[in-house]
Amino acid sequence: MSRRKKIYEGKAKILYEGPEPGTIVQYFKDDATAFNAQKKDVIEGKGVLNNRLSEYFMTGLNTIGVPTHFIRRLNMREQLVRSCEIIPLEVIVRNFAAGTMAKRLGMEEGTQLPRPIVEYCLKDDKLGDPLVTEEHIAAFGWASQQDMDDILSLALRVNDFMAGVMYGVGIRLVDFKIEIGRVYDGDFQRLVVADEISPDSCRLWDIETGRKLDKDVFRRDLGSLTDAYTEVARRLGLMPKAATAMTKPTLIN
Ligand code: TYD
Repeated sequence: MSRRKKIYEGKAKILYEGPEPGTIVQYFKDDATAFNAQKKDVIEGKGVLNNRLSEYFMTGLNTIGVPTHFIRRLNMREQLVRSCEIIPLEVIVRNFAAGTMAKRLGMEEGTQLPRPIVEYCLKDDKLGDPLVTEEHIAAFGWASQQDMDDILSLALRVNDFMAGVMYGVGIRLVDFKIEIGRVYDGDFQRLVVADEISPDSCRLWDIETGRKLDKDVFRRDLGSLTDAYTEVARRLGLMPKAATAMTKPTLIN
């Protein structure tokens, strides 16, 4: 089989040249990393789950009018996306304190925030994705003021959508990270939600029990990551009803 040209290999995904100009194939690996890749493992089935979950969220966003790079899922591990120029920022939205913000500000994890808080980290693994301010972003030209207005609006729309979808299946959206891409339509450029939206890049807590259903299960050694992600997919109706921890993830199309 002729292999497509690999464009980039990251920690959780590989990007290949797409079948048409302006498209890219995103391949979801089973690799899990945390703490800037100091902790690593291969979690069988994670890539399949994230490919399907990201398809579900991106399709929903497209449907409600929030533009994303997503075109369609190709198979269990691959999806076709629009190629875009990734803005070098991790855009984080928080509804409850957790992770680095709870630590930095000495807050108890789970404390409700007075309003959603948006933070920006520079995408730079060597530096450990440091938190940056809008001053840094403007001064170093990583994004324009217009971009920042659009990014804030996209981030808050994704937050409302994701929080609502999760609430509908008994899950609290604590925080999440998105990446934003620039696409060109003729002379115009616009920003779209890019990369992936999956439990790898969100904090998801069961509303009743507080059980963690996201990558913290891996970061903090809290049990089976596939069980947690399978539970999210099951609640969203993406798994056959009979799927339990004992069955391998099989997804409904
Ligand atoms: P944060 O609490 O800042 O960092 P950590 O995950 O290291 O505790 O993360 C906030 C949310 O954003 C969390 O759901 C994880 C996600 N995130 C990523 O997926 N990738 C990243 O590079 C960063 C900085 C955050």
